[in-house]
Amino acid sequence: MAASKGKVSTMTYGRQRAAKGIISDREIRFKCFFQNTILDVLRSRVGWQEVQGDGDWDFYWCDREWLHANYDTMFLQEHQKILHFRNHYELTRKNLMVKNLKRFRKQTDKEFGKLEAQSWDFFPSTFELPSEYHIFVEEFKRNPGMIWIMKPAAKSQGKGIFLFRKLKDITDWKKGEYQPLPDPNIPKDIPETYVVQRYIDDPYLIGGRKFDMRIYVLVISFNPLKVWLYRGGFARFSNTRFSLDSLEDTYIHLTNVAVQKTSPDYDPEKGCKWSAQQLRKYLVARHGIDTVRQMFTAIDNIIIKSLQSVQKIIINDKHCFEMYGYDILLDSSLKPWLIEINASPSLTASGQEDYELKFGLLHDVLNVLDLENRLTGKEKRIGGWDLLWDDGPVFIDAMEQDAGLPSILTPNSFLGCDNQRKSQLRETYALAEAFKNSS
Ligand SMILES: Nc1ncnc2c1ncn2[C@@H]1O[C@H](COP(=O)(O)OP(=O)(O)O)[C@@H](O)[C@H]1O
Ligand SMILES: [Mg+2]
Repeated sequence: MAASKGKVSTMTYGRQRAAKGIISDREIRFKCFFQNTILDVLRSRVGWQEVQGDGDWDFYWCDREWLHANYDTMFLQEHQKILHFRNHYELTRKNLMVKNLKRFRKQTDKEFGKLEAQSWDFFPSTFELPSEYHIFVEEFKRNPGMIWIMKPAAKSQGKGIFLFRKLKDITDWKKGEYQPLPDPNIPKDIPETYVVQRYIDDPYLIGGRKFDMRIYVLVISFNPLKVWLYRGGFARFSNTRFSLDSLEDTYIHLTNVAVQKTSPDYDPEKGCKWSAQQLRKYLVARHGIDTVRQMFTAIDNIIIKSLQSVQKIIINDKHCFEMYGYDILLDSSLKPWLIEINASPSLTASGQEDYELKFGLLHDVLNVLDLENRLTGKEKRIGGWDLLWDDGPVFIDAMEQDAGLPSILTPNSFLGCDNQRKSQLRETYALAEAFKNSS
């Protein structure tokens, strides 16, 4: 760790750092709810120590339930960092995400007109059930032959999802779901909230199979909005060739690994994933660099706009951060569609390559959060994370332009590009050290 030079102060260095909320001359104490890659990462971190029981902590990778139960009664001290913002579900529950997006699109339409509002058309038409059932039926009737997908608002891993074409399928479902319980002594269950969404029936196919992308996004502040985008990530393929003949076949239509790995012909050695790098290379080879850049810029737009839609709603807290897993589906014209945003993307590895991706990703999350105070705060790249938004768009440095990138206004966005995270980190730390020593 670098000792700060320069300014003369009456406070000791340790006290200055403590006053700034920086942990100084002791180990960083962490807690972790999960027993997977994140625990391995935290345990492997030099200078970090696991806290048992109710001991005091500096860093907590908690689960959402714990946060909900404790946040309101908890006083977070200056040095403490915790996963999740208080009301993260505004973006990560399927119904609330769409509600926030629709509200923002309407507002944009009012203030800036239809053309600008079009840049919000990145989520398929969606309705909340049961509350918007009647508006859905009108929309259904306006679009004969369209395929719809029904999803429980708060479940994950493909649970409870089904596709349908006829209104009859859903009236049957509706009856089954909301029938009052026969026993008057048993309290009436509150009906589970669902979303019904236009099914993207022309997904981009590779080898005849559908896939969607898992993209990692780190938000360290909502006000001002500060967003990092990870270079790595992956595409999750379905095991069976795409077809619209059998809508009930989840192995064709749902790309969740949790679904695909139960398929009889799933090969655990091969898995069902491509890295983001593999996918980008494939698409560039087929469609050329400009088309692919446009497609990735459209993904940046989805990320930023979705976060902006809740920027004023999320309870901002400097102790909190969020690592989102975005699900994005490409259609046959390479248009990206936002499917959902996860607050707890799976950190359990499905194989060695997946483990390495997640291990590096999580180490780099901790590097960005910088509890060790190794950085200057001016970095645009830390390991595999690139700073995408810092209260406004972030552009690449002139230096990188020399490497052949086009205009001065090129976004600092490198999803699917090479990720030499370790050598880049060494460089970042050396620069930060030199900067601190000179200031
Ligand atoms: N509107 C849609 N069009 C096409 N495929 C979809 C759509 N919505 C979901 N899917 C497929 O179903 C999978 C699961 O849906 P998702 O909304 O991510 O729910 P879950 O929380 O269960 O993962 C997605 O990964 C995708 O493969
Ligand atoms: Mg999902």
